[in-house]
Order: sequence, then structure tokens, then C-alpha cells
Amino acid sequence: MRTGQVENVVGFDGAHVIVLGNEKGGSGKTTTCFHLAIFLLYSGFRVATIDVDSRQQTLTQYIRNRRDWVNSHNLSVPQSTHYHLPLSKSDSVSNNHRLEFEVFSHAIAEVESDFDFILIDTPGFDTNLTRLAHSLADTLITPLNDSLIDLDVLAHIDPQTGAPRELSHYARLVLRARKERLAVDGQTIDWILARNRISMLSSRNMRLVQTGINQIAPRLGARVAEGIGERVIFRSLFPIGMTVFDPIEDPGKGGTLSLSHKSAHQEYRSLVSVLNLPISNRAKTRFSAREKWAESNNGDPLQFEHMLPKTQ
Ligand SMILES: Nc1ncnc2c1ncn2[C@@H]1O[C@H](COP(=O)(O)OP(=O)(O)OP(=O)(O)O)[C@@H](O)[C@H]1O
Ligand SMILES: [Mg+2]
Repeated sequence: MRTGQVENVVGFDGAHVIVLGNEKGGSGKTTTCFHLAIFLLYSGFRVATIDVDSRQQTLTQYIRNRRDWVNSHNLSVPQSTHYHLPLSKSDSVSNNHRLEFEVFSHAIAEVESDFDFILIDTPGFDTNLTRLAHSLADTLITPLNDSLIDLDVLAHIDPQTGAPRELSHYARLVLRARKERLAVDGQTIDWILARNRISMLSSRNMRLVQTGINQIAPRLGARVAEGIGERVIFRSLFPIGMTVFDPIEDPGKGGTLSLSHKSAHQEYRSLVSVLNLPISNRAKTRFSAREKWAESNNGDPLQFEHMLPKTQ
């Protein structure tokens, strides 16, 4: 991708851009993207979501499912302002790329100054727009499942020791995006490797993966987050467009929250605090006004405090 494309879009100082990326399909990008978006909305932030996966559009479907469920159950839950790319109709690849780029830049331009966070879900394969999205990331989250196949997305691993050998295509893509971003506006990308679908049972394979991640991360200038366990609750959430943060109860447990649900909730909160997301001065002013209002009305305390780094 030409640097010019990044320059056309980068350069805004409003919203903080969080990108979910990993060339390995099914690692949990969309699930994590949607959960973080809803979590940030519940924390009082203004959140826009962009689905860059023009083929599967799973995030878009998740959001549609949410809208339908909310309407049919008369629920009041937050929704993000959402953008998705057109399904490619033209036979011309370059025409499709041009159209996608136009829609994407238009979406960024619309939300950059009025939102606190933009969450971008990318597909499990390399496209022009995937690269562009990575170059825009302030925070990049790469979910990794507990398998050596997932680690292979970052670097080829010694199967005996878990030690990384040469870097893989996706890792090189991110390092290039980082370099490009630095050249354009002097900003860097905070890259988080977040383990996902962690098995409850420890195994040799799991330890190898853990060793591998810990060894690769410093080479990539990435940080590691403990991440999210393998939990059945996620299977039932997609069709109804809900997250573990929404007011849903587990019908199988007589209407109370299951342990799996509560644990997933806690794990996501921990993931968010590891992200060290910036709270802009504008958002702080808004929060402080809301806090005063909540105090004078005996309202709930605000929820974003736990996102601040422990040292603040
Ligand atoms: N922590 C988890 N525990 C159990 N299942 C999970 C978890 N996270 C994601 N899943 C399930 O894994 C599957 C793949 O997740 P998801 O669609 O989020 O991955 P993806 O990386 O976006 O995939 P793709 O590359 O195809 O876009 C889904 O069925 C989802 O419900
Ligand atoms: Mg996806």
C-alpha cells in the first residue's frame, strides 16, 4: 500500500483507534472487537465500530442481531455507531478496492472528531484495507488461541522448545505498518497479544505456546495480555447480539448469571485495564460533569475509573 493512502486518513487527534487483527481465521477478533465496543459504551464513551471484513461481515451481523434482539425484547442497551464495507459486486478488483477505500475513509472522517474510540475489525487475511487499518491503529490487539498453529502467525516456532525462529508474514505486516505510521505522524502502535480461548486444563502444548508468546513479544515490541478463557457462553451470545456485559441471564441456571459468564466478564475487565487506553481530556471533562450529576442524583458511580493505569 502506498504511504499516501495512510496520509489521507491518518492525522486526526480525536478518537483512539483500536484494531483487532490476526491473519489466522477464527482466533476471536470479531468477538473481542464487539465485546470491547460494548464495554466501552457501558463505560460512558462514544464508540464507533467499522467492519473491514467485506466477505464475512460477522461484526456487522453481530450488530444486526443485537438490534433485532433489542427491538423484539424491548431492551435498553447501548449500540455503537457502525460502518461496514459494501459487498464487492464489481468484477474489477481495483474497482472494489477503490470503493472499499472510499467507504472506509468516509467512515473515519465522519467519526474521528466526535468519538472517543473507533474499533476496527479486520478479516483473517491480508487485504489493502487490512494494512491501512493496521497503520491507523493506536492499539492493535491480536487474539491468539492456545495452539502452536496460532503462534505460527507471528513466527515459526521450534516444536521442541517453543523458541521463535523467523518472523511470519503477519508479524512483518504489523512491523511495516508501525514503521509507516511512525513516518507519517510520529505515533507508534501499542501491540497487544491477547490469549483467547485459554483451556482450563494445563498441558505441555499450552506451556509451549505460553513460552513462545513470551519469547516472541519482546522481539515484536508487543505486550502480552492474559486474555480470555474458553467459555461456552460465547456461543450463545452471537445469535442474540449480546455480550457478557449486557443484562442477560443464563436460562439454564434458573435466571442467574453462570460462573462462566461472571468469569468472562472479569477477564474482559482485566484485558481492558492491560490495554492502558487513554482517556482524553475531553472525555474526562464529560465524565466529571456526569459524576457530579450522578452524585447529586444518587446515581451509579461511573465505570471508567478501573481503566486507568494503576499508577494514576
Ligand atoms: N473465549 C472464547 N471462548 C469460546 N468461544 C469463543 C471465544 N472467543 C471466540 N469464540 C468463538 O470462536 C469462534 C470464532 O470467533 P470470531 O468469529 O470472533 O473469530 P475471528 O477471528 O473474528 O474469525 P474470522 O477470522 O473468521 O473473522 C466463534 O464461534 C466464537 O463464538
Ligand atoms: Mg471475524
